[in-house]
Amino acid sequence: MEQNTPVSLPRIGDKAPSFKAVTTQGEISFPEQYAGNWVILFSHPADFTPVCSSEFMTFAFLEDKFSELNCKLVGLSVDGLYSHIAWLRTIKEKINYKGMKDIEVKFPLIEDITMEVAKMYGMLQPGESSTKAVRAVFFIDPKGTIRALIYYPLSLGRNFDELLRVLQALQTADAFSIATPADWRPGDEVIVPTAGSCGVAKERMENKKDMTCYDWFFCTKKLDKDTVMKTLLKK
Ligand code: BEZ
Repeated sequence: MEQNTPVSLPRIGDKAPSFKAVTTQGEISFPEQYAGNWVILFSHPADFTPVCSSEFMTFAFLEDKFSELNCKLVGLSVDGLYSHIAWLRTIKEKINYKGMKDIEVKFPLIEDITMEVAKMYGMLQPGESSTKAVRAVFFIDPKGTIRALIYYPLSLGRNFDELLRVLQALQTADAFSIATPADWRPGDEVIVPTAGSCGVAKERMENKKDMTCYDWFFCTKKLDKDTVMKTLLKK
């Protein structure tokens, strides 16, 4: 792929492109077999590299937290299956990193030596590397729609608090029909959708019940952490 060849990337709101792939957990049909679950599809540049190892250990360490939020994990790199298996075995048997040891990666890791899936998802970004996938993260909802995506360069390990926060914020927006402000975390105030008419906006400014209005277009309300977490954890 030439560095400046335009490629079409899946976008927010698109259906996640379908593919079948071989993984460390057998064959998968993506995203069909994940219908009804959230799924994070993420790529890493290469097996047996340090940043990727730190990330894989962290994904595996936090897998239960993603699972509580009804979210499955699926990894991908353009390495082959036997490399994946050997790398994950090395991680489990040898690596003790930041208190994480004996870490078994139980979620599927896709082999993509043909780069077919990586190209389909815009994970190959030739300005960064034409032979390795960048660190892409796709958040896909239970209907198979891409809801958020984040790309990181090869040198930058992902922030897992942020990945969990994005998932919680997307699920909270769906469950409560609200939006989430900058740096939102469960328990913080949420944004009430902008009033659709002058009448509603005026009434809001006058009544302001349960709301804080900074102006007619910018109102927040309380949404306590227990309510949010009870809703998200039972989904
Ligand atoms: C790493 O995971 O450490 C890494 C992989 C590819 C390029 C640079 C760093």
